[in-house]
Amino acid sequence: MILKGNTIGDILKKPAGTPVEAHGWVKTRRDSKGIHFIQLNDGSSFTDLQVVVDEGAVPPEVLAGATTGASLRVSGELVESPAAGQAAELRARAIHVYGTAEPTTYPLQKKGHTMEFLRQIAHLRARSNTFGAVFRVRNVLSNAIHRFFQERGFLYIHTPIITTSDCEGAGAMFQVTTLDLMNLPRNEVGQVEYASDFFAKPAYLTVSGQLEAEVFALAFTNVYTFGPTFRAELSTTPRHLAEFWMVEPEMAFADLDDDRRLAEEFLKYIITAVLDEASEDLAFFNKRIDDTVLSTLEHVATSAFEHIPYSEAIHLLQKAQDQGRQWEFPVHWGADLQSEHERYLTEEVFKKPVVVTDYPKEIKAFYMRVNDDGRTVRAMDVLVPRIGEIIGGSQREERYDVLRDRIREQGLNEEDYWWYLDLRRYGSAPHAGFGLGLERMMMYVTGMKNIRDVIPFARTPGDAEF
Ligand code: 4AD
Ligand code: MG
Repeated sequence: MILKGNTIGDILKKPAGTPVEAHGWVKTRRDSKGIHFIQLNDGSSFTDLQVVVDEGAVPPEVLAGATTGASLRVSGELVESPAAGQAAELRARAIHVYGTAEPTTYPLQKKGHTMEFLRQIAHLRARSNTFGAVFRVRNVLSNAIHRFFQERGFLYIHTPIITTSDCEGAGAMFQVTTLDLMNLPRNEVGQVEYASDFFAKPAYLTVSGQLEAEVFALAFTNVYTFGPTFRAELSTTPRHLAEFWMVEPEMAFADLDDDRRLAEEFLKYIITAVLDEASEDLAFFNKRIDDTVLSTLEHVATSAFEHIPYSEAIHLLQKAQDQGRQWEFPVHWGADLQSEHERYLTEEVFKKPVVVTDYPKEIKAFYMRVNDDGRTVRAMDVLVPRIGEIIGGSQREERYDVLRDRIREQGLNEEDYWWYLDLRRYGSAPHAGFGLGLERMMMYVTGMKNIRDVIPFARTPGDAEF
């Protein structure tokens, strides 16, 4: 086992003259007269360890197996690299090949693969430069998310994956059943009888842990849940996944302003963490994927977010239209903001993250607190350049009667929400929370263009390979 201290990332920091044993996979290999160069990587750092093999230093049949993709143990000594500014390289004395990789079929060759091709080899792409950087950043981001909430005393809770209520009320859920689809039990009028299904009623994969997080916020005050969520939307945009990770804080005795401030502080904290702890990987993204990544993140980490009500957003979009801007989706009070609108506001008008609040109640979920005007709710969306919506949140409706009416109004089944309504009967309190999509955040910090390329194995309509 390779313990901390012996990874390639650690070896690269050791001085010339140190005897070492390195383990990893061959990224590339170059042979010239009397000398061979092997780039070895074990995932611990963006930079490879350069292994130099002098002719005759290891048996030719061993060297023959050390081709791109093979897994090796190399022992030898670190020597000063002739290239200025470069870390020491490893002069090999012995090589052990754990597993060869047939060069004519190994799909991950040196360079120039498209993202689409790499998606088809998701079982191997983690060994590439780009995906090595992606998944190290994802780890740093996840750790920073926990740290942010733990440092502030938020209780980490594990909300269920299987649920019988639809949190967003949008009906985009995957059903979970053990019924035999070829032989469904039906009643006299042909409806499926769920009494014999596993949970004795229709069950689904959760779209959000919020409703259960609220239960815990109304006992532990400040909580968060961080886990996988599922949406059966037939959407094939570069920003949508059928399975994605969401972090959802929920705070009792908090209103929308508290929620907005927490979201801003949270985003700045995790951005700063990535800048500090994944600087080598971010430098790569800035150089090869999007040259605005670093300047954007540095700017966002230090400047105040903009805040506008929905009505003001509509006004700005209409003004743009009056000045000749063409919108694909019509803009009028009551219409939902589309990606083109979100990006216009954040990329062109404000050039920084924008928090839009107080949306019309018709376009938002049933649980959001109704404003005194009766037509808007205490919702907030945080929009960022390139991505659009990255966070969705709200102050929750804490008044029993109002919430019950909203559930009815939206055509939802009141009985399904009996325990959620109960929270409003026993010790109800103002509370608020939000959800950040981890993959949207990943796209933002890495500059990666497609959400399928920032999650280990993407689930999208028609595709759940691996
Ligand atoms: O705006 P959404 O739907 O909000 C909720 O689910 C609330 N229950 C959260 C809460 O208040 N606790 O989703 C929250 C975020 C979005 O802003 C977006 O970043 C991400 O989740 N998201 C998706 N990411 C990838 N693929 C999808 N299909 C996504 N749908 C939402
Ligand atoms: Mg949303």
